[in-house]
Amino acid sequence: MTTTPPVSQTARSQAGIPAALATIRRNIDALGDLYPDDTTRDGRYLPRPAGDGVGVGGNRGWTTSFWPGMQWLAWELTGDPAYRDAAARHTRDFEDRVRDGIDLDTHDLGFLYTLACVSAWRLEGDEGARNAALLAADHLMHRFLEPAGIIQAWGDLSDPRQAGRTIVDSLMNMPLLTWASEQTGDPRYADAVRRHTTQLREHIIRPDHSTFHTFYWDTVTGEPVRGATEQGAHDDSCWSRGQAWGVYGFALNHRATGDPELLEAAWRCADYFLAHLPADGVPYWDLVYGDDSGAPRDSSSAAIVACGFQELASLEAGTERGARAAEAADRILDSLVAGYAPEPAESSDALLLHGVYDLPKGNGVDEGTLWGDYFYLEALTRRAMPEWRPYW
Ligand code: GLY
Repeated sequence: MTTTPPVSQTARSQAGIPAALATIRRNIDALGDLYPDDTTRDGRYLPRPAGDGVGVGGNRGWTTSFWPGMQWLAWELTGDPAYRDAAARHTRDFEDRVRDGIDLDTHDLGFLYTLACVSAWRLEGDEGARNAALLAADHLMHRFLEPAGIIQAWGDLSDPRQAGRTIVDSLMNMPLLTWASEQTGDPRYADAVRRHTTQLREHIIRPDHSTFHTFYWDTVTGEPVRGATEQGAHDDSCWSRGQAWGVYGFALNHRATGDPELLEAAWRCADYFLAHLPADGVPYWDLVYGDDSGAPRDSSSAAIVACGFQELASLEAGTERGARAAEAADRILDSLVAGYAPEPAESSDALLLHGVYDLPKGNGVDEGTLWGDYFYLEALTRRAMPEWRPYW
């Protein structure tokens, strides 16, 4: 027997969604088929700058798929074909990007092709999108390094500065490989996921359950070498977005592999994250900072971790830990809706204010971010549609 949820629960499940949808609609009208930049500037998204032989507003960098990802979510939430049509045009463009070899020297092919193409395959059975995503998975596999058993994060594989380096964010790139194994029946992709996630579980999580942002392996011997940061405060501090990637990434890879140690890894990251949150549930940009530090928040970390807790709640439904994860997800998401979404919505092009891209480099500090917007909408979608099937 089904029951009608109490009004307050219905209101909670819808909170934040109308404003987010209105902003996406306005941004589609303003940008046409161009891609917004990684972050807002003074609250406004501009078309991304030209570079790497790609013109203004073109498809380069690691964040472009968050924009069609939001459009696919908006379509699922509303059934409005305007969102679907906008997303599908970007899917075609992602086919061109991988076919033409544009800006592919990155592990972020997982973020890019999961949200722009696996989404289109899952929702529409789009064969062109499936082929593009499989091609992207093959490019990603070229980055798998023996004997270390890791996927190198950044740069041309011949670049000595990046040799043997992976980063915690890479956990979110693994679902593309899991999907490729499912689609093709070829176990090589899933083997790479298993080995890479095991290396991260063993080395990128510190004994106190915080995470390094980046970690190096010796490319000749395969031995672990050292942790370091790129976007955090210090090599030995805990970059808050990295910790959030750890929560969601280990949880998703547990779902894919069934490895119980990945579930425990997600919880180690999650408990550390919760223990270092300020009262409103939205972290400072590095978890080394507390109240009175004057440090900026990173709302995008909160949006990512909300999805991570929702995933943990569904993985462990009916248990005490599952209930704790659901409570944490709701508390963090409620805080984002109440205190971090622009009010009125037209006062910014972002769905979520107060994100940080890269504070040490002074890039995108206290701005909206494309990934913060995407994960905020994913968390809202998961709450509004408990049957929602992740693109990951
Ligand atoms: N994946 C890059 C970042 O989180 O900034």
